[in-house]
Amino acid sequence: MSEDLWKTVDDYVTTQLLPPDPLLEAARAANDQAGLPAIDVSAAQGALLNLLARSVGARRVLEVGTLGGYSTIWLARALPADGRLVTCEVNEHHAEVAAANVKRAGLDAVVDIRVGPALDTLPGLEGPFDLAFIDADKENNLAYFEHALRMSRPGSLLVVDNVVRAGQVADADDPSPAVTGTRRLVEAVGREPRVDATVIQTVGAKGYDGFLVARVR
Ligand code: SAH
Ligand code: DHB
Ligand code: MG
Repeated sequence: MSEDLWKTVDDYVTTQLLPPDPLLEAARAANDQAGLPAIDVSAAQGALLNLLARSVGARRVLEVGTLGGYSTIWLARALPADGRLVTCEVNEHHAEVAAANVKRAGLDAVVDIRVGPALDTLPGLEGPFDLAFIDADKENNLAYFEHALRMSRPGSLLVVDNVVRAGQVADADDPSPAVTGTRRLVEAVGREPRVDATVIQTVGAKGYDGFLVARVR
């Protein structure tokens, strides 16, 4: 069992299940060219986000953490022509690269990129959103989740990326803000009567991590 094997299997399933996608590949290439970190979701994970959004009949999606818009494109493609995806990004350079990637993918009429700290943007947004994807600075995970819950409706899905972090989430002594922030989220969600939730650990091209998925009651 090794990261190489996880990557090999991701390549295999992606080749078998996902058609070549020049626009998504162009987005990845543009991110690389622009010096963005390669911390976007994998293709298989992006496809899962797209399936989840379509499964809840999403018309409005909220994203926290745009980077170059790779996950944004997967999610926005799940929406009808009059759908809306609002995505929050603090880094102006990331947001500019994302805007170009989204435009190339023909999704600029659907995607609204809000530049600034998400904690400044979220209080001014209004729901309901049918799905939220939280994937920004992990120390604020709980605050983002609470905003997403406030702007949800019964049946909305709230998905949080990177909640396992190679197993660090289970280490109560890990002092890093990303781990303590994610533990605070998991423990608060466990006490939150308004959602049913689980965490699924994942391995693949992006290493060993996991998603939290919550459904609003
Ligand atoms: N969802 C993307 C990856 C996001 S990476 C994808 O899968 O394609 C995390 C992003 O969150 C980075 O671009 C980072 O700049 C952004 N971010 C970090 N702190 C933030 C904050 N306080 N508000 C908004 N975005 C933030
Ligand atoms: C990091 C952030 C992410 O959203 C991710 O998917 C992987 C890594 C990071 O900050 O290191
Ligand atoms: Mg992530």
